[in-house]
Amino acid sequence: MDNNLFDKAKMDELMIKYNFALQSLKTELNILIKEFEFNNKYNPVEHMKFRIKSEKSAIQKLKRKGYDVTIKNLVLHVHDMIGIRIVCSFISDVYDIVHVIKNSKIFKIKSEKNYIENPKDTGYISYHLIVIVPIYLNNNIEYYEAEIQIRTVAMDFWASLDHKIQYKFPNAIPNEVKEELYNCSLVIKELDQKMHKLNEKVNSL
Ligand code: GTP
Ligand code: MG
Repeated sequence: MDNNLFDKAKMDELMIKYNFALQSLKTELNILIKEFEFNNKYNPVEHMKFRIKSEKSAIQKLKRKGYDVTIKNLVLHVHDMIGIRIVCSFISDVYDIVHVIKNSKIFKIKSEKNYIENPKDTGYISYHLIVIVPIYLNNNIEYYEAEIQIRTVAMDFWASLDHKIQYKFPNAIPNEVKEELYNCSLVIKELDQKMHKLNEKVNSL
């Protein structure tokens, strides 16, 4: 069998299941956020994006991580076949949304990474949750992972530029560009802190 391809029938079935899980995740997130908005008379979310990773990107990721291209490895080692990005106004909103998601009765949290407290070496700042989403089928329940990235508009601004630069230099980003990007992330961090303080001040007036 071609080592670069998944079994077609099995992959089609898996992709349908990921789609079911995404639908369920979207619905639950919308409910949780609307409820938060109703209770607090405030919507912390600027916008949300949802995507399912393409088969091609999944294959690239497995290879990059050094795994054989099999469905089993895909399910075990690619944690972001379902990806959700929730973009908020302020850092405090990010933590509010993390709290709301952690309280969900539907998802279980498999892992979390707080790249706000501990930014990556690149300068990347964000809050990541891997959640387990159940899908209720006719005769059984199955569970699928999804990656939720929660960040501010400023963090998202930085990440999108970083992404474009990574795309432009697929092999290695020149050091000077890397350093400048990192410096920009410090500015982003400071800006988020200033905006948070300003928001607190305005709310207390
Ligand atoms: P993968 O990198 O996805 O294999 O998993 P991991 O276990 O290393 O998770 P990590 O939390 O580092 O990254 C998951 C996702 O976060 C990535 O797929 C990107 O979408 C995003 N991300 C992580 N690091 C960076 C970064 O330096 N720049 C940008 N723009 N995005 C990043
Ligand atoms: Mg990574």
